[in-house]
Amino acid sequence: MRIPEELAELGKKQIEPYPVEGFVYGSGPAYPKLMLVGEAPGETEIGNGIPFSGRAGNELMKFLEMAGVTREEVYITSAVRSRPYKWGEKKGPGGTTIKRKYNRAPTSREIIAHAPLLDYEIEHVHAPIIVTLGNIGLKRLVGKDKKVSALHGELLVQPVLRIKEDQFEWTEQEYRIFPTFHPASIFYNRRLLQLIHDDMEKLRELRGNFPVNQ
Ligand code: URA
Repeated sequence: MRIPEELAELGKKQIEPYPVEGFVYGSGPAYPKLMLVGEAPGETEIGNGIPFSGRAGNELMKFLEMAGVTREEVYITSAVRSRPYKWGEKKGPGGTTIKRKYNRAPTSREIIAHAPLLDYEIEHVHAPIIVTLGNIGLKRLVGKDKKVSALHGELLVQPVLRIKEDQFEWTEQEYRIFPTFHPASIFYNRRLLQLIHDDMEKLRELRGNFPVNQ
């Protein structure tokens, strides 16, 4: 499944005022075993156009294996489809400083700029369970007051947020949402690894109850 080109163009135009670069399409089947919603692509992804193909992606693939699915069987997307960056400095050879771009979390405005793209994917990708990876994806779908630390590993059955004229509103339809941590979180906090493993075990069991939609 790929979003229509006009929608991709709208997303590119709406995000243009902000410090972001590149554009990565969501990818996967229209009838996947799971839909995954991350945060935003990083440097690797905007280079090759493949979501979760960098360091975080390597971790994600191990987690998917624990949940009993492969990359080809899931639809992978994120709240924002361009790479949000900020300028920073790092030390170069001989005491020089080199300016470079660092990843940062997307802002609310950037999330709103790409909201119609994710809305379209949620409507047209028929996933039995939507897995949010980290706080950005979770808050985008179920509200800013929600936290992955409190909700991870629990199945939520509820409407999701969708954009209408720059405001979020709830869908009439209910979805199954399974929040877990972003795979990159383990680079900063190794203790999350066990929690993610436990979540993947639960997800594997849940998948048995909710097979692929047809
Ligand atoms: N994080 C995301 O949310 N998406 C990617 O594609 C890579 C890292």
